[in-house]
Amino acid sequence: MNILAVESSCDETAVAIVRDGRTVLTDQIASQVELHRIYGGVVPEIASRKHIEAIYALADQALEKAELTRKDIDAVAVTYAPGLIGAVLVGVNFAKAAAMAIGKPLIPVHHIRGHIAANYIAYPELKPPFLCLVVSGGHTMLVDVQDYTKMEILGGTLDDAAGECFDKVARVLGMPYPGGAALDKAAASGDETKYVLPRSKPGANPYDMSFSGLKTASLNLIHHAEQVGEELDIPSLCAAFSSAVSDTLVPRAMMALEKTGYKKLAVAGGVAANSRIRRDITEAAAKLGAEVYMPPLSLCGDNAAMIGSQAYYEYLSGNTADMSLNAYATKSILGEAL
Ligand code: KG4
Ligand code: ZN
Repeated sequence: MNILAVESSCDETAVAIVRDGRTVLTDQIASQVELHRIYGGVVPEIASRKHIEAIYALADQALEKAELTRKDIDAVAVTYAPGLIGAVLVGVNFAKAAAMAIGKPLIPVHHIRGHIAANYIAYPELKPPFLCLVVSGGHTMLVDVQDYTKMEILGGTLDDAAGECFDKVARVLGMPYPGGAALDKAAASGDETKYVLPRSKPGANPYDMSFSGLKTASLNLIHHAEQVGEELDIPSLCAAFSSAVSDTLVPRAMMALEKTGYKKLAVAGGVAANSRIRRDITEAAAKLGAEVYMPPLSLCGDNAAMIGSQAYYEYLSGNTADMSLNAYATKSILGEAL
C-alpha cells in the first residue's frame, strides 16, 4: 500500500511516499528554518504562508522522485494535530483535496505518533510492545506503546518540553535558532562539573518531569555572569545543561523499563538527536539488558516519512477520516482533546 504523507505542523513542509509502513520511496522536505532564524523562532503566520507556497510542488516532486503517478497512491495521510494551527491547516486542507481528487482514503496522523513511527522505518524488525521516550520541541513524555495504535502515557513534563529548554538556553547564549543542535555541539568540549544546575522531581508520579526550574536556573546563571562581567565558559555550561536534561530523562526511562518489563526502548523526536542523551541511554539500557532504538538524525526531526509509516497502522486499525477532518493545535497522543 503506497501512502502519500503530508507534514506541515511547524516549520518544515514535507511530503513522503511510504510503502506498507516501512519502505520510504521518497521523503521530500522544504525547510523554512533559515527564514525564521532572523526572528529567533518560528513566526506562525510566515510558516503557514510558506507551507501554502511549497506544498503542491513538493507533492508533485515526491511522485516524480518515486517514479509514480497519482494512480499509484492508495491513500493520503496527514498530520492533523498538534502544531501551529495555521500551519497544520495547510497540510490538512491539501491532504483532503488530494484524497478527494484521487478518490482514496484520508488518514489523520498525530504528529507524536509519527515521531514514534520513525523507529519503524529505521528498524524494520521493531514491533510493539515497547517503551518510547518522546523528546521533541513541544513534547516530552514516556509512552508505553502497547500496539501500533494503542498507547498509554506513563508520565511527562509538567511544564516546558526538553527541546523548548534547549532552544531557549541556546538563544540566550547567542546561538542561532533552533539552538538545540548548536548547544549539543558546544557541549562536546565542555566540563560538565564546572556549573551546578538543578534536577527537579515534581509531583507524585515518578515518571513526571519538569524543566522550567532548570531553564530558569540556566538563564539566571547567564544573566548573572553578564551583570558582574564574569566570562562564561559556554561549552562547560552547555555540557552541564545537557547532563541535567539527560539526568532528568534517562533514569525515568530506565525506571519505566523495569516497571513495564520491556526489553525494548525507542527514542523519538528532535531532541533524540542529542549526543549526550543518546550516549547515556545506550549505557543505561545496556545495564538493564535492553535493546535501544534511536532513529538516524535525519528521521529525528520533523519529516513526512514518519507520518506515512504511522498512517499505515492507523489505516489497518480503521482510523480514517472524511472531509470533515479538522486540524488541532493541541490533542493528546491518545486522540483526546486537551
Ligand atoms: O521533533 P522536532 O523536530 O519538532 C517538534 O515536533 O517539536 O524537534 C525540534 C527540537 C528543537 O527544539 C531542536 O532544538 C531540538 O529538537 N534538537 C536538539 C538537537 N537537535 C534538534 N536538541 C538537543 N540536541 C540536539 N542535537
Ligand atoms: Zn516534531
